[in-house]
Amino acid sequence: MVIAIDGPAGAGKSTVARAVAAELGFTYLDSGAMYRCVALAAHEAGVDVDNAAGLGVLADGLEIGFEGRRVLLGGRDVSDAIRAPEVSGDASRVSVHPAVREAMVARQRELIAAGRYVAEGRDIGTVVSPDAPLKVFLTASDEERARRRAAETGEDVASVLAAQRSRDARDTEREHGALRAAADAVELDTTGLSLQRVVARIVALAQDRGLVHRPQGESGDPERTSPQFVSEGSPDSPPSEHK
Ligand code: DC
Repeated sequence: MVIAIDGPAGAGKSTVARAVAAELGFTYLDSGAMYRCVALAAHEAGVDVDNAAGLGVLADGLEIGFEGRRVLLGGRDVSDAIRAPEVSGDASRVSVHPAVREAMVARQRELIAAGRYVAEGRDIGTVVSPDAPLKVFLTASDEERARRRAAETGEDVASVLAAQRSRDARDTEREHGALRAAADAVELDTTGLSLQRVVARIVALAQDRGLVHRPQGESGDPERTSPQFVSEGSPDSPPSEHK
């Protein structure tokens, strides 16, 4: 069973999905890390990002694993290597190829079938798990998304914004597994919101849908368990949401 959290780069998906998983006792799945592994492996093997057939074979043979927060590629810890800016661009390029997507979607479905997951990506609610009982589509303004990513990586905001725009365009316009909200997704705009509010909203949705049962008096306290993605003192109002 999976709670699907989709949205563009920098909308806060990873931080939110991790925190929701911790709060509910579910396992977190970072599907983007898998496409990043394909990009890294392709770079190392000298397979071009436009070589659809070569990438398909490569993706099929990859051994991608997760151990806590660490991402393993063939048993090697690639958690830092896959976050390099050039890998971000290449991940977006390799992920347009249907053969790559098929290989990754099959892995994701296998994982999800074996437990209770909060999975984040672009196509979890539309392709990987169209039957997910809760789908959330997270958004935030372009500028805020770029600010958050720059704060994380130390790059300057303007170059993050430029790279983000071209990545968004490619992710949205590709033919297979394009970034879009499922018709039955709950859309949450996180601009100006604290992480705590967004997490609390998703946890409440999961409870409303009977996906988790929390004994009385054991209410989760996201203030205690979750880091911030918006700096202290930023404007904070209830999440905007529409179906
Ligand atoms: O979430 P992320 O930024 O780590 O993802 C990196 C790239 O992987 C992103 O630009 C598009 C691709 N991706 C995808 O195509 N489908 C997913 N479910 C997740 C990521």
